Amino acid sequence: MKAVIPAAGMGTRFLPATKAIPKEMLPVGNKPVIQYVVEEALAASADEVIIVNSREKKAIEAHFAPDAELEATLRGKGKDALADSVAHAGSLPVSFVYQDEPLGLGHAAHCASEKTGNDAFYVLLGDVIVPGNEMLPRMKEVSDAHGGASVIAVLPVPEEEVSRFGVIAGVEVEPGVWKMSGIVEKPALEDAPSNLIVFGRYLLSPRVMELLANQAPGVGGEIQLTDALEAVMAEEEMYALVISPSEGYDTGTVESWFATNAALMQG
Ligand code: G1P
Repeated sequence: MKAVIPAAGMGTRFLPATKAIPKEMLPVGNKPVIQYVVEEALAASADEVIIVNSREKKAIEAHFAPDAELEATLRGKGKDALADSVAHAGSLPVSFVYQDEPLGLGHAAHCASEKTGNDAFYVLLGDVIVPGNEMLPRMKEVSDAHGGASVIAVLPVPEEEVSRFGVIAGVEVEPGVWKMSGIVEKPALEDAPSNLIVFGRYLLSPRVMELLANQAPGVGGEIQLTDALEAVMAEEEMYALVISPSEGYDTGTVESWFATNAALMQG
């Protein structure tokens, strides 16, 4: 199965830090955020990770390219552990496609459609990292138990926060697993069907990719992945796995990025 990581956004929340450095390259500890996300996908047996990049963010591509010269310099100085870390980053099976216009998350995911083909695929948002790497395998278990259905990870949040996220409707069919009946992007509080928000990890059926090809713009004038999920539910079952806050770390705001660095340094 392929994994898609949308990474073409401008990272405006982190300006001026992201004036010349892509948001995805900001470090958590000694690794850029996006390397955690790539490694999480590979730990879940993804055979290829497709980063949906913008053409300006070459630093992401440089990070995942081999650098024989740097490696040799480090080995010459006896710094083999560092050389190994450089070699590792350059050896990960990452490929790139481009999103040339900022038309939304659904559009970004669809930019990888030629590579995902007729197979189910993962989507991993780069704002969150899951250092334990256990979320995608659990989602795959739920999918396998329900005939290959799409499964997304959802997180319970205080209700005043729901309007910043995608929010699901459904019923709990076993502890921690909901059968979904709807999903809505950034609803007003009074319209939110639950307090379970879309966390940023998706295992999606190939039909979602087909629907994205013709998905009309939604909230914010953007082609929303959420809207294609709502559409696919008319044809296929879809499930949500409820995760706990300790399983994932948000790096999407300056405050949460600091908190994530602090939390992982302690761990
Ligand atoms: C995106 C998704 C939203 C999800 C969120 C998680 O929104 O559209 O459904 O809840 O990521 O971070 P964005 O943060 O890009 O506005």
